[in-house]
Amino acid sequence: MKIFLDTANLDTIRMYNDMGLVDGITTNPSLLAKEGGDPQKTMEEISRIIKGDVSLEVVSTDYDGMMEEGRQLRKYGDNVIVKCPMTGEGLKACKSLTAEGIPVNITLVFSPNQALLAAKAGAKYVSPFIGRLDDIGHTGMDLIKEIKQIFGNYDFKTQILVASIRHPQHVVDAGKIGADVVTVPAVVLGKMLNHTLTDKGLKAFLDDWEKLKSESPSVEV
Ligand code: G3P
Repeated sequence: MKIFLDTANLDTIRMYNDMGLVDGITTNPSLLAKEGGDPQKTMEEISRIIKGDVSLEVVSTDYDGMMEEGRQLRKYGDNVIVKCPMTGEGLKACKSLTAEGIPVNITLVFSPNQALLAAKAGAKYVSPFIGRLDDIGHTGMDLIKEIKQIFGNYDFKTQILVASIRHPQHVVDAGKIGADVVTVPAVVLGKMLNHTLTDKGLKAFLDDWEKLKSESPSVEV
C-alpha cells in the first residue's frame, strides 16, 4: 500500500520525505489556503521535492477551464496528477487529459457508482472521502470495500486512493481491504509512527545502559 501525505505544508513534506515515508502527495484548495503564500509556488515546490505522484487540484468547474488548468499544472513536473472533481465536466476533462498523457485523480467521490464512472473515464486514481461519510453517520470504509470489489470484478486499472482519513485505524482497515493508496494528514502519520510503549521501552533500555555504564567505567558509549 502506498502512503501519500495529504498536506501542502512544505516543512512537513520535507520532514517525512527525509524518513522515506512519502510515496506521493495530495493537495486541494483548502489545504493550500491553510498554508497561505503563493499557491502556485507551493505546488511547484512540492512537485520538485517529491519524486512520486503529486495531485494538484483544478479550481475551474467547466471543461475548458479544467483542461487549461490541467495542462498548466502538469508543467510543474511529470509526476503531477491533475485532480478534477467528480462532476460530468470533471469526467469529460479526465477523459481528454488522460488521452493527452496527463493522468487524473477524480476527487470528492462518495458512492461506488461515482467510482465506477471515474474508472470508465480513465482516471488513474479515484479518491473516496471516507471521513466525511463517517461524519454524516455512514461507515466510510464500506465504500472502499464496494469499490475494491467492483474494480476487481472488471479488472479496472484505476487505483483506489483512500482520502479524508481521520485516524490510524482507517489506514489499518484500508490496508486489510487492499486499497492501493491512503492519503494521510501529517497528524495521522505521526500517530502511526509513535507508540507510547516504544517510548517507554526505549527509555528503560537507555536507563539500564546508563546504570551499566556507572557500574563498569570501561564502557565508552
Ligand atoms: O485530499 C482531500 C481529503 O483527504 C479531504 O479530507 O479531512 O477535508 O475531509 P478532509
